[in-house]
Amino acid sequence: MSIKILINGSEFEFEENLTLIQALEQIDIEVPRFCYHDKLSIAGNCRMCLVEVKGAPKPVASCHFSLSDLRPGPNGELPEVLTNTNQVHNARKGAMEFLLVNHPLDCPICDQGGECDLQDQALHYGINKSRYKENKRAVDNKDIGPLVKTTMTRCIHCTRCVRFTSEVAGTEELGAIYRGENMEITTYLEKGMSSELQGNIIDLCPVGALTSKPYEYHARPWELKKTESIDVMDALGSNIRIDSKGAEVMRIMPRYNEEINEEWISDKTRFVWDGLRSQRIDSPYIRENGKLIAASWDSALTLLTDLIKKTDSSRIGAIAGDMVSAEEMFLMKKLMEKIGSDRYDCRQDGSILSNKYGRSSYIFNPTIAGIESADAMVIIGSNPRMESPVLNARIRKRWLTGELKVYLIGQEHDLTYDYIHIGSSPKNINLKNLELSNSKNIIWLLGDDVFLRDDGMFILSKVIECAEKTNSLRSDWNGLAILHKHASRVAGLDLGFLPQDEKYNSQNMAKSKEIELLFLLDADEVDAENKYKIYIGSHGDKGASNADIVLPGACYTEKNGLFMNTEGRLQEINRAVFPPGDARDNWKIIIELSKRLKKSLNYINLEDVRADLRKEYPVFTKINQIENNSFQGLDQLYDQKKKLSSDIFSNTVFDYYLTNSIARSSKVMAECSMQKNSIEIKNG
Ligand code: SF4
Ligand code: SF4
Ligand code: FES
Repeated sequence: MSIKILINGSEFEFEENLTLIQALEQIDIEVPRFCYHDKLSIAGNCRMCLVEVKGAPKPVASCHFSLSDLRPGPNGELPEVLTNTNQVHNARKGAMEFLLVNHPLDCPICDQGGECDLQDQALHYGINKSRYKENKRAVDNKDIGPLVKTTMTRCIHCTRCVRFTSEVAGTEELGAIYRGENMEITTYLEKGMSSELQGNIIDLCPVGALTSKPYEYHARPWELKKTESIDVMDALGSNIRIDSKGAEVMRIMPRYNEEINEEWISDKTRFVWDGLRSQRIDSPYIRENGKLIAASWDSALTLLTDLIKKTDSSRIGAIAGDMVSAEEMFLMKKLMEKIGSDRYDCRQDGSILSNKYGRSSYIFNPTIAGIESADAMVIIGSNPRMESPVLNARIRKRWLTGELKVYLIGQEHDLTYDYIHIGSSPKNINLKNLELSNSKNIIWLLGDDVFLRDDGMFILSKVIECAEKTNSLRSDWNGLAILHKHASRVAGLDLGFLPQDEKYNSQNMAKSKEIELLFLLDADEVDAENKYKIYIGSHGDKGASNADIVLPGACYTEKNGLFMNTEGRLQEINRAVFPPGDARDNWKIIIELSKRLKKSLNYINLEDVRADLRKEYPVFTKINQIENNSFQGLDQLYDQKKKLSSDIFSNTVFDYYLTNSIARSSKVMAECSMQKNSIEIKNG
């Protein structure tokens, strides 16, 4: 149903189910607000969004006034709304005056200064003197953990933070205690917050009551260079903005993308930036007498060229890590082919997931936004809350509508929503155990840990069979959803950065005496035992400390590159700062090496590389798009499905905060990990 309204004298038509503030937004009329947020429930407690509705005895709060409540005048006149009258202005000034009664004059030392909604609105609705003589109220700050700094005297009690934790994060950790003038926002027992999405309350807080602890007093917003990029801490591809000052990244913020992360990011994405500065490799190193000694690029590359030349090509292998761009893998694969070796793998964790059965067999087909159309979800061998916290919030969002039934086969965890636990082993994947007959859009979510099991591909086969039987693989709905954890994995599978013979998968190559020289392209999770280990990467983590030659590369904030997220969507990362010291872009290192080996990869710039990449692999053509994908050769997959094991699914024990070399170099992530472990120990 639509409704016609006169707004400031002009006629407009809207859907009746909108609130007044939403309607005004649609026609670009700006309404000041503090408590309203379109991803949260409506609180209506700041009164800043007042507008005049003709016939109403006093100004109304537009955020909780529904258009369906508007009535025509006695002679059928259109309902009329005014947003720019003196009455509206004075009403907003009144609301502002009350908000400022107890607000400290902190702006010069407040981290929110320059990007504070209260400052901005005070410019229009503030008055330049106070009519109050009483002392301002002071509120104790709360210690809620290593990420969020509180200055509670600045709080204006909008309750956005409370609504976020209870509605989006699902952790019910913040609340308001006491009433009226004594109201305070706190964690009830004044303990640290545990949510892995808690950093979002910093963005939501319209004032400087909640700010970033690690960023405290680091910079002012106008000093920062802002670079739009993509996160690589997990495989979701959250859209981010990297704020840098000089040569250093100062903070990471979310960018809005309704299809992927809406406007949330996980705490690892937001706070990992201090790890970008520490443990950096800023010069090539060569191992001499057991010790890594700094060397020049020339001597390191000369030594490497000699080693490659004297090693039989079949004894050379390469493993790509989890934060490597598509172009880097593309070039590394080309170099390996020119050297004459087909021994390369992008699955450093030992996954057996392959690209043999079509792209649909290894991506999150229903799409992230598609979760909101699902009516049933079967989670198999995954803990989405830890593997992809922002995606988990989307599942919770759908579950909150009451339209989504969730089943879990695997280890039980607090996922922030209710689920029916069917069992813990692949034997429980059986349609008899699931009530899906009334469900139309079913998601079969498989964690990528499933493919660390020997029976991983049989489980995939069984799940695809169940999906077919429940009509979940239709032209308008593909319900098979592989939830990847690693940012590079889908692109690696698309590129076929996989060994021809599984005998040479990453784990086997790392242990094999047969492979004498192993490239570790930003690969830090393998224990390589080969004669020569060549590490190309950014951080002094496991890969570098174990290597014989170390070539310093750039990490994700220091390079341009393409990444494919878990749903098979192509996105682009952009350089915010330059790599430190002598470190270089990984793609340039590979090209330089190819020249020295006289197996030249003839590319001058990254665009040339991309042009060839697109030609050979068309899925890398369209940024921000998901191709139409399909399965292939499923008969072969079905033929194998006899050997499901009864071993229970055990999600690999992993510490969410320490999953990669950048996170392990971050002091903040280490603190988060310690806090989480201590909470878990206390809770038994
Ligand atoms: Fe100033 Fe805003 Fe900080 Fe208040 S919250 S002190 S208005 S910058
Ligand atoms: Fe609002 Fe910030 Fe206060 Fe929370 S701390 S109620 S977000 S002003
Ligand atoms: Fe409407 Fe706060 S935004 S009452």
